[in-house]
This record gives sequence, structure tokens and C-alpha cells, in this order.
Amino acid sequence: MTDWKNLCALEDIPRLGSRVVKTAGGDLAVFRTSDDRVFALNDKCPHKGGPLSQGIVSGDRVTCPMHGWLIELDSGNAVAPDQGCVKRHEARVEAGQVLLRIA
Ligand code: FES
Repeated sequence: MTDWKNLCALEDIPRLGSRVVKTAGGDLAVFRTSDDRVFALNDKCPHKGGPLSQGIVSGDRVTCPMHGWLIELDSGNAVAPDQGCVKRHEARVEAGQVLLRIA
């Protein structure tokens, strides 16, 4: 387990959008919801690896841009009837800054 890292200002992530973070283990996508919560998932759809960072956030879910699977931001699980899970990481907002802890 690593420490929390300061990623960016919350305002640097568009509402209902995301920001890509490069890591040694691959890209992560950090999403911002309409009510300014943040979630981090590997940027790889559990279906066929589509870039979730290019999807649209609605509520607590993101729609994969490739074939439209819905992925729950807080768990990384695909919404039924689709099945699969993408690895999630901890993210939070503190004093207007997005903090990330890569699992
Ligand atoms: S790759 Fe995401 S829905 Fe197919």
C-alpha cells in the first residue's frame, strides 16, 4: 500500500469527465461526478479494454465508449447483465485537491 499522493486540483478534472494518470502498472482514470466526488479506476474496460477515461460519467457510473457497458465508479463492477470488474483505487478531495492512493 502506498501513501496518498496529491494529483491535481479538483478544477483540473472536468465535471462528468476524467483525467488520465500514467503509472508503471498502466493508465488510471480519475473521474469527477456532477457533485464533485472523485473515483479512480484502471483505464481499461473489463469487456475488451476500452478507455474508460473517454466515457461519460452519469451519476455513479461511467459508460464505456467502445460498446456502452456501464461501470460502477465506486466498485469497478460492470452493471448487470454485463459481468466483469476493473481494479479501483482510492481517491478523495481535500481542500480542493484530488488525492490518490494507488492500490
Ligand atoms: S470495451 Fe468497454 S464495453 Fe466493450
